[in-house]
Amino acid sequence: MEEILKFKNFSMAYNTNKGKLIAVNKINLSIFKGDYIAIIGESGCGKSSLVTGISGLIPKNCEVSGEIEYNKSSIKNPDKFLGKDISIIMQEPMNAFNPTIKILKQTEEGLKKHYPFMTKEERLKRMAFFLNKFYLEGDVLRKYPFQLSGGIKQRILIASSMMLNPKIIVADEPTASLDLDNVKNVLNIFKIYAESGNTVILITHDILNAFKFASKVAVMYAGEIVEYKPSGEMFKNPEHPYTKALISCLPAVNKNKKFLPVVDGTVEERYFESGCPFYNRCPLKKEECGSYFKEPLFNEYFVSCYLYKQRKDL
Ligand SMILES: Nc1ncnc2c1ncn2[C@@H]1O[C@H](COP(=O)(O)OP(=O)(O)OP(=O)(O)O)[C@@H](O)[C@H]1O
Ligand code: SF4
Ligand SMILES: [Mg+2]
Repeated sequence: MEEILKFKNFSMAYNTNKGKLIAVNKINLSIFKGDYIAIIGESGCGKSSLVTGISGLIPKNCEVSGEIEYNKSSIKNPDKFLGKDISIIMQEPMNAFNPTIKILKQTEEGLKKHYPFMTKEERLKRMAFFLNKFYLEGDVLRKYPFQLSGGIKQRILIASSMMLNPKIIVADEPTASLDLDNVKNVLNIFKIYAESGNTVILITHDILNAFKFASKVAVMYAGEIVEYKPSGEMFKNPEHPYTKALISCLPAVNKNKKFLPVVDGTVEERYFESGCPFYNRCPLKKEECGSYFKEPLFNEYFVSCYLYKQRKDL
């Protein structure tokens, strides 16, 4: 398996009036060609911050440390890679388009930049082909963004990123405003894309579909990936207490219950580096967990929890 993206002790902290808020804490992760990875975790876990880290569009109040490598070279200038190598679909489709410019012009831009020898006719053909994959007609190209629903704009964004034929697609909540048929279609297209040797990183709150479609799942909590495994294996045998809690709340595993369980508490803003981030909510915590200092893990799969500290070589 060929490694394509690697996070090495990658951290991001925002300077806020309450102190240094740690959104991403020393992430080590190897991603390979053909991987379809879903990153799941509650709101505020740092998923979008991680995406911002890959894009390099770092807000002024954010300090970044560690490294991200693409094809074994450090991404110091992500601009060079964005679009044709790594295509990023940001979380808010509403803000992705300039409201005063028709969709055609905005969608065509990427093709013009990355495929300068393509004729206008070829561009139109390619755009129509990819829009059709997402059940869209070519006439959306003649519209202004305000004339289209959030779901249509979301599908145009996904189609636009795929028409560049990137090696990696990073999609932050790409199905949030789609109906069920469109959700399945998008997740399935991503699956086929990864199976053909590309890489997809999907950020989603749709936990069941993450397990159904992605080949690997990363569970994120307060800036850390606390468990990373092949999806089937994790669904059958979740190990980290947070993963166990997330899975135990799914409607699919609570079919005969009147009320769905919930994970008690909420993700707290994080201002500390070491120690377990899940400590305050963990039903299995031990005294030692609070001061448990995690060593960097460079294995492909891992569970990051005191209970499994002998199992770093999973
Ligand atoms: N520009 C910023 N300045 C200060 N804090 C920020 C900034 N952006 C994000 N945060 C904080 O960083 C933490 C992680 O936020 P992030 O948006 O990455 O989470 P998320 O997992 O994507 O959440 P969601 O599922 O709601 O999209 C949160 O505590 C958030 O309030
Ligand atoms: S390290 Fe301790 S507190 Fe944290 S998840 Fe594991 S058992 Fe719970
Ligand atoms: Mg987000």
